[in-house]
Amino acid sequence: MMSNEREFSFTQKDFTFLSKIIHERTGIVVSDDKFNMFYSRLSRRVRSLKLNSFQEYCAIVRDEREGNETSELINAITTNLTAFFRENHHFEYLSDTVFPELTQKNPDRNIKLWSAGCSTGEEPYSLAIIMKESPLLANWNFELKATDLDSNVVAKANRGVYSMSRVEGMSKKRLKRWFFKGAGKQQGLVKVKPELNQMIEFGQLNLIDNWSQEPQDVIFCRNVIIYFNKETKAKLVDQYANSLKPGGYLFIGHSESLYKVTDRFELIGNTIYRKIK
Ligand SMILES: C[S@@+](CC[C@H](N)C(=O)[O-])C[C@H]1O[C@@H](n2cnc3c(N)ncnc32)[C@H](O)[C@@H]1O
Repeated sequence: MMSNEREFSFTQKDFTFLSKIIHERTGIVVSDDKFNMFYSRLSRRVRSLKLNSFQEYCAIVRDEREGNETSELINAITTNLTAFFRENHHFEYLSDTVFPELTQKNPDRNIKLWSAGCSTGEEPYSLAIIMKESPLLANWNFELKATDLDSNVVAKANRGVYSMSRVEGMSKKRLKRWFFKGAGKQQGLVKVKPELNQMIEFGQLNLIDNWSQEPQDVIFCRNVIIYFNKETKAKLVDQYANSLKPGGYLFIGHSESLYKVTDRFELIGNTIYRKIK
């Protein structure tokens, strides 16, 4: 499967090699139909490294010691699609059900939330906004973590700068309360106010590694496990159960399910799970 029209030679063998590295390092299962996507996303790397072919590129990934190009490879291949208040019913459920419950359960007035696979930050900033806007949580202490495997998206998330089009769906009131509007050279951009940014601890974390987190009240891991096989999913979900307080909540993406993956959670709403053991 090699086209003469391509700028660089890219064979099925190269694709298989790169897919294997991606799977080993991220847990992401790469399907065969991603051949063209790999070519278009990685030719930029081949070009900027001034290489002549994907065979040379694979050799660099194979031989390197520090893993720099492997990180670039992963950053180029991961899908980072996200949005502010994506799957808004989850945020409504937090405000209407979870926050009232936690105000009863947590006498220390402290809430721990984790956005695992936070991409460019829209998800954790949406969480920060609803926590700040909840009258029930006035004067509460929030510990909000946001992590992703891809170092580029974590850096972008931490900068908190977005084009106006990303916040179009937000009410004017909310926009004014939580964002600065860019002027001059920054025209067309918005920046998250420091008050929100400072609430979030951003970091790089590979979810398939052996990590541990302090017990959380809520974990958001949405549109991440969709790319994993059942075994990887089961291991990760087990780690999530270990990292949640009793009765803690796990939110997953709209096309994901834990059906036959775990017996440590019960389904209590649309893609909303609760730890039972
Ligand atoms: C489609 S985005 C979802 C973003 C956000 N959670 C949402 O639902 O809008 C998936 C994210 O998962 C991250 N990801 C994929 N594999 C990962 C892994 N093994 N560890 C951590 N993050 C991973 C990707 O880098 C990407 O940013």
